Amino acid sequence: MILVTGATVGIGRRVVRLLRQQQKSVRSFVRLTSHYSELEHRDSDIFIGDLRREQDIQKACQGAKYIISAHGSGNDVLSLDYRANIELIDQAKVHGVEHFVFISVLGAERGYEDTPVFKAKLAVERYLQSSGLNYTILRPSGLASNLLPLAEQFRGTGLYLLIGEPKNRTSIVSTDDLARIVVDSLTLPDARNQILPVGGPEILLREDIPKIFSRIFNKEPIIINVPLFAVDSFRGALGLFNSSAQTTLGTFRTLLANEFFCTSGEIANLERIYNFQLETVEKFLCRYLAI
Ligand SMILES: NC(=O)c1ccc[n+]([C@@H]2O[C@H](COP(=O)([O-])OP(=O)(O)OC[C@H]3O[C@@H](n4cnc5c(N)ncnc54)[C@H](OP(=O)(O)O)[C@@H]3O)[C@@H](O)[C@H]2O)c1
Repeated sequence: MILVTGATVGIGRRVVRLLRQQQKSVRSFVRLTSHYSELEHRDSDIFIGDLRREQDIQKACQGAKYIISAHGSGNDVLSLDYRANIELIDQAKVHGVEHFVFISVLGAERGYEDTPVFKAKLAVERYLQSSGLNYTILRPSGLASNLLPLAEQFRGTGLYLLIGEPKNRTSIVSTDDLARIVVDSLTLPDARNQILPVGGPEILLREDIPKIFSRIFNKEPIIINVPLFAVDSFRGALGLFNSSAQTTLGTFRTLLANEFFCTSGEIANLERIYNFQLETVEKFLCRYLAI
């Protein structure tokens, strides 16, 4: 049985879909408040719990042969990005799990001081590496599925809000390709005990995104470029009365202020290991927007 956390959204949902298409036995870790009917329809076993509770993780891991950690945290980085993953790794050891896939983030190793998620991801990576388990650590850049609501907004209005430096480079990855990489990591020998940056096949500038939307919808973009200092001023003011939102904005700022892209060598290595060609952001969007 393969235990999947974060099974209700983005990567995890697609991972469960792929595993069930392959007739694999899957247990999806969900909350009572989660939307999990699709997972049930796909005949995934449903484990209802909360990743902030060690006992729930212990129960969910019983009988697991593989574990895929694909959950995120929102604001509770310490409990979810850090502690829940440490407990999943400890339980993987207890139950003799054969392979553990962990979704980290591109740039986790860069030591951004103001970005607790990145720190938690790096600490978990190190814990997993020294656990003695077989593992694959995937470090994705942005996910193409995050662009879908922005594309829909663009379709209606032609507007695109570009916060920060338009020339910063990014390698947005098809969320479907990433799910396939996650699933294949369980069995491919070349993916074993690797830390792999994961991006799309092309390095984009952030200003290329509205250009892609423009091509897809055949519509001139109206780009509103908000400079980073506006985020800083807002963040400073917010910190006076909401420190947790200020922390979240710290991560947001790091993502906007820095470049997150994979080199062509890293992409070639991915395509070699997983033996398929990664799709472009444009192709991903056209598929989902039925264009
Ligand atoms: N999105 C990106 O661009 C990006 C880029 C790089 C790396 N990543 C990493 O990729 C992974 C997946 O990202 P994502 O965007 O698909 O998902 P996400 O939004 O980061 O995570 C949300 C998932 O975690 C679950 N979850 C949250 N709190 C929980 C709790 N207390 N107990 C049980 N489940 C809980 C949610 O369940 P509910 O449905 O109940 O809310 C949902 O399934 C994450 O580790 C993220 O850090 C994401």
